[in-house]
Amino acid sequence: MNEQHFFNFLRERIGLDVDSVGAPMVERALRQRCTALQANGLDDYWLRLQQSHDEQQALIEAVIVPETWFFRYPDSFTALASLAHKRLAELAGARPLRLLSLPCSTGEEPYSLAMALIDAGVAPPSFLIDGMDISPISVTKANQATYGRNAFRGNNLGFRERHFEAQEDGHRLHERVRQRVSLQVGNVLDPALASRDGLYDFVFCRNLLIYFDVPTQQRVFETLKRLLHPQGVLFIGPAEGSLLARMGMRPLGIPQSFAYVRQEETLPALPSVADGKSARSVPVPPRSPSALYMPGKSPPSAPLPRPLRAAVAGAPARSLQGEASTDTERELLASIARCANAGDSQQARSECQRYLRQFAPSAQVYYWLGLLSDTEGDAPQALTHYRKALYLQPQHPEALVHLAALLAAQGDLAGARRLQDRAVRAGREPGQ
Ligand SMILES: C[S@@+](CC[C@H](N)C(=O)[O-])C[C@H]1O[C@@H](n2cnc3c(N)ncnc32)[C@H](O)[C@@H]1O
Repeated sequence: MNEQHFFNFLRERIGLDVDSVGAPMVERALRQRCTALQANGLDDYWLRLQQSHDEQQALIEAVIVPETWFFRYPDSFTALASLAHKRLAELAGARPLRLLSLPCSTGEEPYSLAMALIDAGVAPPSFLIDGMDISPISVTKANQATYGRNAFRGNNLGFRERHFEAQEDGHRLHERVRQRVSLQVGNVLDPALASRDGLYDFVFCRNLLIYFDVPTQQRVFETLKRLLHPQGVLFIGPAEGSLLARMGMRPLGIPQSFAYVRQEETLPALPSVADGKSARSVPVPPRSPSALYMPGKSPPSAPLPRPLRAAVAGAPARSLQGEASTDTERELLASIARCANAGDSQQARSECQRYLRQFAPSAQVYYWLGLLSDTEGDAPQALTHYRKALYLQPQHPEALVHLAALLAAQGDLAGARRLQDRAVRAGREPGQ
């Protein structure tokens, strides 16, 4: 019996591409489970795995990556709020809005959807959110809805005051938010999801597809497309869009929202997240690398900064000296966000350069720079930025995962595995 049997089992059951997380991570999980069961080697463990549904679930729990936090990619929630108002006007009270967070992990994402809608003035009875994840342990934690500090990242934590109550064991989410979210254990590969065809106005499927191989990604995208109402919007993770264009979906054009609609649908006339104008009137940022990186100016030691509303609203853009600590720094970040949200990537970029000239370099800023290059298809720049992020913060979980994915795509499987291993350790350290 070799490990390949277990790798195949995980691929079939949950779609996991072992190369995406690295064989060492799965091998460690196998060792853990053998020790827990006192199994006599892999042959014995294989037999027991076949005979026990509980053990299958235990192995799955040992390999999943549950990393998540509230308002991850803040611009997607701002975009959602605008889109939800428009969709509700179209529905004119015929039914509530339906949203899906799959995978929902420990609940931070579906609850962020509910808080974003409530904060945008959407009446709670007019929306329903389903959350689904393969991990029963994560879904149980989500149902408990009490969160430690790692669920709250970044500077913009006003939502915690509005929607949580501080308790001894963490912050407990208010009932009025919890009520809007139904959680269940479920598998994105389950054919029974077909019974929900066309049900959802908004589907969030973020940071799952990076763990799948291309055929599985394709299969899941087909499922997600079917789950979406024809006028629905799909939100994915920042590095998960490469297949979508080939599958009849196109980006909505709202910076940093990672939101897609069906190709054949007309683009909804969105209020811009930045200034309330129609998104159609906002120029979509130019896609060529030259529009994003100043020609002929390779930065000295600190490279190009980048625009991000997230830099202001969430975890991103912190200087080495800590959080945005001066008015100047905060103003500069806000200005970057305004430019980015208005689609003015060149201006945003030059503001970012100013930011990096004035303040210490930040791992999060370089991580986002990497993502920007990644989504532009500029792999060499993306590699440079991710590496700088990791130089500043060696355990930055997302920089690790995305750099690993890039290395794997370039054929450096050994390098990718080392990083995947680190990412898993980083995501599972106590207090994470
Ligand atoms: C990194 S978390 C993403 C959570 C959230 N969407 C986010 O972006 O913050 C990945 C989650 O995918 C779940 N997962 C893995 N395979 C799955 C599958 N086949 N079906 C449903 N959930 C799955 C894991 O249990 C884990 O909670």
